[in-house]
Amino acid sequence: MEDDRSSEIDLNTDNIQRVNLRDWYKPMSFYQIWVRSFADGNGDGIGDLYGVYDKLEYVKSIGVDGIWFSPIYPSPNADYGYDISDYRDIHPDFGDLDQFKKVLKRAHALGLKVIMDLVVNHTSDEHPWFVESCKGKDNPYSDYYIWRDEPNNWDSLFEGKAWEYNKERGQYYLHIFAKKQPDLNMDNPKVRQEVKDIMRFWLDMGVDGFREDVINFISKKEGLPNGLPFLPAVNGMPYYKDGPHIHEYLAEFRKVCDDYDCFQLGEGPMTTVKSAMKYLTGPTKSLDMMFSFDHMMADCLYTEYVHRPFSLIKLKKAFTKWQYALAGKGWNALYLENHDHPRIISRYGSEHFWRESGTMLAASYIFQQGTPFIYQGQEIGMTNIKLMSIDQYVDVSSITNYHTYHLKEDPERRLHRIHLSSRDSARTPMQWDDTENAGFSRSTPWFYVNPNYHRVNVKKEDADENSILNFYRKCLSLRKNSKTLIYGDYTEHFPKDKNIFMYERSLDSESYLVICSFSRLPVKAHKPAKFAGKRGELVLCNYPDEPVSYGGVFDHVEQELSEIELKKGYFRPYECRVYRYYT
Ligand code: GLC
Ligand code: CA
Repeated sequence: MEDDRSSEIDLNTDNIQRVNLRDWYKPMSFYQIWVRSFADGNGDGIGDLYGVYDKLEYVKSIGVDGIWFSPIYPSPNADYGYDISDYRDIHPDFGDLDQFKKVLKRAHALGLKVIMDLVVNHTSDEHPWFVESCKGKDNPYSDYYIWRDEPNNWDSLFEGKAWEYNKERGQYYLHIFAKKQPDLNMDNPKVRQEVKDIMRFWLDMGVDGFREDVINFISKKEGLPNGLPFLPAVNGMPYYKDGPHIHEYLAEFRKVCDDYDCFQLGEGPMTTVKSAMKYLTGPTKSLDMMFSFDHMMADCLYTEYVHRPFSLIKLKKAFTKWQYALAGKGWNALYLENHDHPRIISRYGSEHFWRESGTMLAASYIFQQGTPFIYQGQEIGMTNIKLMSIDQYVDVSSITNYHTYHLKEDPERRLHRIHLSSRDSARTPMQWDDTENAGFSRSTPWFYVNPNYHRVNVKKEDADENSILNFYRKCLSLRKNSKTLIYGDYTEHFPKDKNIFMYERSLDSESYLVICSFSRLPVKAHKPAKFAGKRGELVLCNYPDEPVSYGGVFDHVEQELSEIELKKGYFRPYECRVYRYYT
């Protein structure tokens, strides 16, 4: 931290010096692209890198500094790209390596970094390594995967038991995810060498770093002991999460990255702050940031499928726990959405107060300390899709959940659970305008378009000063131009308030106070004692004409506030405000 503050970082990211500046990613923000549903350039109904190329200016216009591509490699799509059959090529649906290089070049010319998804806990069962490995124990690829004569009792996270019998080899292979995602044997030095070669392949091409898929699962406990029988789905986790050699293996990968000064972001399902510290700080530091999951469980338990009512207290505790633990030691990866979670407005906000909650949610996380990630469509407030039948869903985990749990409930109730939880809600085509197929494709899209695209789309929101899209732009620009919002200390105020999330960022004599109402009714927010008697400057608000005029936004609110009450610190439904103070 101290170093960051004393070194003169030019916050204009085009000028960020990569040399000797390991922390170049700190002032940045990223946009995640799940290509299949982003933009279809060649008109076959599937998003592709031609479409991405055409939309790079749009991405830049949001104010982000980089792109994370979910896997764009050849894949049979058992898990939509997270089952890779060739690590050194582009899925033919998306284009080819030449098209990728064009995208990379154009992105760099626009000042956007590009990071790739590195999925090395498992491959596809159609990867040539696995095809070879099945052939027998004396095959050169025999030990690339985890084979046993007898399975242990582990469940997979996506599809029944974690072991599948392979007739050809006459043994069982381990798959922590779907059957078509056999786990690699990372204890085999040859496999680790493959990973390092793959990293160099993309780094040599010019990519700037990696998001590393379920990276805390790659080292398994020797002997693969049986898990506790009463923990369905996750019973083996104690033996494959944060495994015995994880830090050695990641140190090897880190060395590759050091040669290129690129950065590494690990996805850490179920990671605790305590274990994350080992990845992010001290002698075992191997990752620059980690995607943690605690804050994604404010309305569910472990997976979105086990749904509970939203609790702001839980959300605040999770946010603040990570902020305090990493302060001055590590760095957070901030996000509310990605391709694995339903849309955030439908979860933590309100589709009824769509614009209000969509904008408030942006401010609730972008101004925390860390590097913000925005998932495609989040910036325009896309919401969950409700399909009529389970057969219309395509995500392997949704399908398994539907057919495995709550089987005694009636089908409608079970489908409702899928509406609340499915990853497919994050994977509907991007809504560009109100023409057919939401402007995503000129032919029938590969997946259902959310029918709300007439109201929720880029074109409309681009033209509306008060839209969710323009609010994201304001947030990112405010953050980018403020050292306090990037590097300043984080303090939460009134952690027990059930309606308001209030946090402060401070550096030297400057403080920003971010106040977010998660209530659909007007609620009062109190001023922290340290600001008593001080007048803050309002620098951002998600209601037009704040603070006294209603500007029409109250038409749908039963309970109105008088001007006096507004002045006294009442917040309208899902209102957020950011004040700047000097102390
Ligand atoms: C990660 C990915 C998810 C994928 C899983 C298995 O959690 O984000 O999409 O299904 O790993 O690769
Ligand atoms: Ca296409």
